[in-house]
Amino acid sequence: MLRNKSIGIFDSGFGGLSVMRGIVKDLPEYNYVYLGDSARVPYGTKPREAIYRFAKQAINFLVNKNCGLIILACNTASSEALRRIQQEYIPKCYSDRKVLGVLIPAAEIAASKTKNKRVGIIATERTVESEAFVRELRKVNQEIKAFQKACPLLVKIVEIGEQDEKSTNAVLKKYLKPLTSKKIDTLILGCTHYGILEKKIRKITGKNIKIISESKIIGKKLKKYLKKHPEIEKKLSKKRKNFFYSTDLTKNFEILGSKFFGEKIKAKKADL
Ligand code: DGL
Repeated sequence: MLRNKSIGIFDSGFGGLSVMRGIVKDLPEYNYVYLGDSARVPYGTKPREAIYRFAKQAINFLVNKNCGLIILACNTASSEALRRIQQEYIPKCYSDRKVLGVLIPAAEIAASKTKNKRVGIIATERTVESEAFVRELRKVNQEIKAFQKACPLLVKIVEIGEQDEKSTNAVLKKYLKPLTSKKIDTLILGCTHYGILEKKIRKITGKNIKIISESKIIGKKLKKYLKKHPEIEKKLSKKRKNFFYSTDLTKNFEILGSKFFGEKIKAKKADL
């Protein structure tokens, strides 16, 4: 058996680098290939069919880069395309590969943390419309009441490097108020971009609301998954190499990407 496969991580932009950062911290021994579709970000306002098509293209790219296991680190792609990818595309085209999402792990952790069974979710418009978080929370516990808020401006704020602190806080307050007023005790940051705003969000929500950030939980979930699936783990290369690709090579991708990843990254251009 060849142990030469990498773990692919895909996001609509550089936000997923914070998820990758957590994964690499928990599982440093493997090889990783990151793909950000910065040329077409944001996905959060795009039609469902387009998101499915983009996700398939990303998977083709990562399979060509020899990834045996692929994480859709994008919540919008996880909520709108993952199920179809897992049920139709992968069995038909790449039955020896696995594709996982980020939404179910986040919902499971949130469901286990909430005491009053009131969970808030902030995410993109498309993720909110899909109700995927609500469904997954209820699968764990039917008593959970989920309150969602789409935050379209946050991706833009993060993309431009959140220059104006005052207006960022004002926008966050506006988005969070309808959730805090519902007395939630747990808040899911249901979009890769929001992790970088966690401190600011925490300041507004206060200590009593637990914040679920995917950057901290996906690595731990993946560790458990690989333990349960030695047949997949066996195929993974352990050379500790990271590769970064973006569909649009702007300075921003490397500057903000390095901020999200926690160390300097050098990206190559990807054509999907
Ligand atoms: N990566 C997307 C997500 O996690 C956010 C950015 C976008 O709208 O593409 O939902």
